[in-house]
Amino acid sequence: MKAAVYTRYGSADVVQIKDVEKPVPQDNEILIKVRAASVNPLDSHLMKGSARLLARIMLGRRTPKITRPGVDVAGQVEAVGRSVTQFKPGDDVFGSCRGAFAEFACDPKSALVLKPPNVTFEQAAAVPVAAYTALQGLRDKGKIQPGQKVLINGAAGGVGTFAVQIARWLGAEVTGVCSTRNVDMVRSLGAGQVIDYTREDFTKGRQRYDLIFDLVANHSLLACRRVLNPKGIYIGAGVLAGLSMIGILAGWITAPVLSWLVSQKFVMLLARRSQEDLTVMRELMATGKVTPVIDRRYSLGEVPQAIQYVAEGHARGKVVITVAPKTP
Ligand SMILES: NC(=O)c1ccc[n+]([C@@H]2O[C@H](COP(=O)([O-])OP(=O)(O)OC[C@H]3O[C@@H](n4cnc5c(N)ncnc54)[C@H](OP(=O)(O)O)[C@@H]3O)[C@@H](O)[C@H]2O)c1
Repeated sequence: MKAAVYTRYGSADVVQIKDVEKPVPQDNEILIKVRAASVNPLDSHLMKGSARLLARIMLGRRTPKITRPGVDVAGQVEAVGRSVTQFKPGDDVFGSCRGAFAEFACDPKSALVLKPPNVTFEQAAAVPVAAYTALQGLRDKGKIQPGQKVLINGAAGGVGTFAVQIARWLGAEVTGVCSTRNVDMVRSLGAGQVIDYTREDFTKGRQRYDLIFDLVANHSLLACRRVLNPKGIYIGAGVLAGLSMIGILAGWITAPVLSWLVSQKFVMLLARRSQEDLTVMRELMATGKVTPVIDRRYSLGEVPQAIQYVAEGHARGKVVITVAPKTP
């Protein structure tokens, strides 16, 4: 089978499409025939591990331990191991499965749910990481309440386009921050207010927010505090492009210290894969409350270009790899 593979650290051009052996599912594993996968900034962060000391220690010092990019997947169950009872061959599923940029994927730690029939494979593949981040940031860390004023910095990206829709579903009044070309799109997703960051700095405005969900990290925590209500909460998930691991760690250390000193709370999020969250997303998509936004589609042979495009930091919604097109 064909799969995207990389064996050294670097930018997207270290990825090659190679013939590799088709996996055979172990007792508790599910083999997926991939129909679509989606790209996350994480794919290029892992690939560039060389630039980041801590990442390199965790991911392999000289050569990467993770060599198969892609986590978000949608496809058909091809085969299941002996102890799998939840799925059977032929089921349409989506979720998290390492090595998703391939014709077939199989991961002992996969988290999968059935795909709703009214959702395409491409839409379903767009969901996992971005939706975990939006749900776990807004609902779990942010404890968002109906009527609260929520600002989403980075509202036009993969996570942001889910976050705007999920915050609206949870009853919040949403302000999205994006560039000029995305203002109408962010408004159409449910943001009542949209701030064009090329014209206005939200940290200098008059409006105060109960929750800031920051997917860009281009303002200091103190600048964000200025526009938080006294009991407001800042949830940081974004990684500023080009920031070193020390810079990232500094934010993680500063947030709890600042929370201790002032009345607002500052929390850093590390999203985790969750089958329960996939189930929530399945319902939201099946009932039309959330619709994934797809920016571009690439073929399996174009994985390096897709990863490079996302790494440039201006995707509009999600970027999808279409492996074998099939309408639901
Ligand atoms: N902590 C976690 O667990 C976790 C999980 C997932 C993602 N992340 C991180 O969260 C961030 C967002 O992820 P993503 O998947 O949404 O990335 P993405 O799809 O690449 O997001 C790109 C978006 O960022 C917007 N943007 C760029 N500069 C901006 C600025 N100055 N102000 C406002 N928006 C700006 C762009 O909008 P314009 O084109 O309009 O500029 C674009 O729509 C990334 O840093 C990613 O690494 C963290």
